[in-house]
Amino acid sequence: MSMGKRIAVIGGGPGGYAAAIKAAQAGAQVTLAECGEIGGTCLNVGCIPTKALLHTGEFYHRIKSGSVAGVKAVAAINWLDTQRHKEKIVGRLKDGVHALLRHNGVRVLKEKAFPLPGGKVGIGSEEIEADAVILATGSVGTKLNFPGAELPGVIDSDAALSLKEAPKSIIIVGGGVIGVEFATLFNWIGAQVTILEMLPDILPMFDAEISSCLCEKLQADGVRIYTSAELTGVSQEPMCMTAGFNHGGTAHSVSADYVLTAVGRRPNTADLGLEKLDVKMVKGAIATDEFFRTNSPGIYAIGDCNGMNMLAHAAMAQGGAAVEHIMSAPVRYNPKIVPACVYSSPEIAAVGMTEKQVIAAGIDYSTGFFNLGNNGKSLIDDAGGGFVKIIADKRLGEILGVHIIGSRATEMICAAALCMNMEGTVEDIYNTIHAHPTVSEAIGEAAMSVFGKPLHGI
Ligand code: NAI
Repeated sequence: MSMGKRIAVIGGGPGGYAAAIKAAQAGAQVTLAECGEIGGTCLNVGCIPTKALLHTGEFYHRIKSGSVAGVKAVAAINWLDTQRHKEKIVGRLKDGVHALLRHNGVRVLKEKAFPLPGGKVGIGSEEIEADAVILATGSVGTKLNFPGAELPGVIDSDAALSLKEAPKSIIIVGGGVIGVEFATLFNWIGAQVTILEMLPDILPMFDAEISSCLCEKLQADGVRIYTSAELTGVSQEPMCMTAGFNHGGTAHSVSADYVLTAVGRRPNTADLGLEKLDVKMVKGAIATDEFFRTNSPGIYAIGDCNGMNMLAHAAMAQGGAAVEHIMSAPVRYNPKIVPACVYSSPEIAAVGMTEKQVIAAGIDYSTGFFNLGNNGKSLIDDAGGGFVKIIADKRLGEILGVHIIGSRATEMICAAALCMNMEGTVEDIYNTIHAHPTVSEAIGEAAMSVFGKPLHGI
């Protein structure tokens, strides 16, 4: 029996652990080094714990609102139990990842590792040889520099997940994905939330109609949103934190228990010794080709550290693709079909191009739109409306982008991603029988609307 390839994976987040498992399944001898906790940002201080807290928040908010669909109950949050519930889920998933790695025969070392010249990898005090090294070192939160940035009441998302008590009020600097998810959470549990966003729109990377719809919903729910706002500094008052900011040409200030900064993340490439290996970097991210190869032979970079799509599922897919390339298998990774989900209220999910991008690319396109106010299941969900928008190539009908804001959006987007992955057209969606009553019917209706023939819309 031939010896398998030796693959070293540095970093045990979703990118790294997925790469390690896929490599082991493909017959490689795999060593995975993780100096922190297995599961990385996503499992420990990102996707999973935030969604666990959001689940509590939504539950509480619905009950607290008085009468939901004829049910009356009294709601109270026990913050300690909420935190325990979150930890239990994180712990269970982490045990699961450890078990999967063990089951697949991956050697896991709780050490800091770094690539060395000549196909070697330093792992703690050990040095191993590898045929390929996969860097999956993730990202770190961007620190903002402003007067008061070091005050204890100025926190990042890691700290916001583990507050000792539920805050009564919070200022969130940055109206991106983390900003709006925490705004949703804290609004649901009854805190006064203020968002300060530097750009003219919150969620600036999403389709403009989606961002403006969410902005209106958040404001209707009592969240104060200042866009085109420039933070000037934060000071500690006896009972609160006060943030000063410029907005509309005048100086404003707002006070709250905490100031949460969520202004983006940047690739984590420090202390890897990449400069010694002459690994090419672009704007702080490790540069790679479409197979996730760096310019240094045998060294690959996947996930947040290459800055391409800073999302857990993109990292997992890139990990698989890097392994496929190392094992000489056909690589399956299409960077154009990476869904993005936001767990706001209502939820947001999108795949493909925004309308702005389609216009910039000079593509002749048509759009279909369906208002979820006309969808039975969405009304039953009482999720606050929203819509499905499909952008298709006018001539060929190829789906270019699907944008959803509304109930169950994050579960529905995979149907659109599947269709795009199969190079499906808007006609294919039109001809698909969508089960009734479901929110997914709205995707079929949006496809009908591309042809000007929605069944339940005008
Ligand atoms: P982001 O890039 O989504 O948003 C950062 C926001 O902060 C932008 O709107 C930006 O204009 C704004 N900003 C930057 N500097 C500012 C300043 N000085 N004052 C006010 N606003 C400022 O980054 P975010 O929300 O920190 O998330 C980090 C990463 O984590 C992202 O890559 C995101 O994709 C990922 N993430 C994904 C989630 C999901 O998929 N559901 C959930 C949370 C995070």
